[in-house]
Amino acid sequence: MISTGLSSTVLLASLLTLTGLCSARSDPPRGVAVGFVFDPKATCDPPCQHAGVCIRNNTCYCSRGYEGETCQYANCYPKCKNGGECLRPGKCRCPPGFGGRYCHKVTCDGGCWNGGECIAVNGVAKCICPSSWAGSKCQEAICPQGCRNGGICVAPGICSCPDGWLGGACHTAVCTQPCRNGGKCISPEKCRCRPPYSGARCEERKNSH
Ligand SMILES: *[C@@H]1O[C@H](CO)[C@@H](O)[C@H](O)[C@H]1NC(C)=O
Repeated sequence: MISTGLSSTVLLASLLTLTGLCSARSDPPRGVAVGFVFDPKATCDPPCQHAGVCIRNNTCYCSRGYEGETCQYANCYPKCKNGGECLRPGKCRCPPGFGGRYCHKVTCDGGCWNGGECIAVNGVAKCICPSSWAGSKCQEAICPQGCRNGGICVAPGICSCPDGWLGGACHTAVCTQPCRNGGKCISPEKCRCRPPYSGARCEERKNSH
């Protein structure tokens, strides 16, 4: 009776056998493909992995979530995006900069500050900063005027100046005692005097004779 091979009786018996075998498993395969013959004496070498069933010599029937000759590959649906690797069925391992179940979300390490937006540029997560901020996290303020004399840009357009300097770009030296007789404060507490004046505050008039 079995010698006819693919008779409907054999096919039905095959499916029932497989179904019976599978119902004992904790994670039965579903969506049985019609048309194969299950050979109980079949050997698969290398063996079927991930609970795949050897249905014919060197032919594995894979559990749900696996594929490949020996069911060696997990599959993920939807597929892992942005270069993610399918570790187990439905579980993607994401490359740096990506997250979410399918690696579909871009994540910037440490976040983007000051209104920066995290986007993927050529597969790399990057903060795109508002015009007045810079740096990998948009953490650095930009002072278009520059901060001179050791000043530090602490907020857009705002310099924090060291002692002795003032002004938007820390460009104005401070002389606590004003320079006199037209002298100019050129650095903290330092006057440049107009001739014929001299002295710390240009208070002395040189006697040219
Ligand atoms: C399967 O392989 C075994 C051992 O290698 C062999 O004896 C058997 O005849 C094979 N079965 C089929 C259907 O080819």
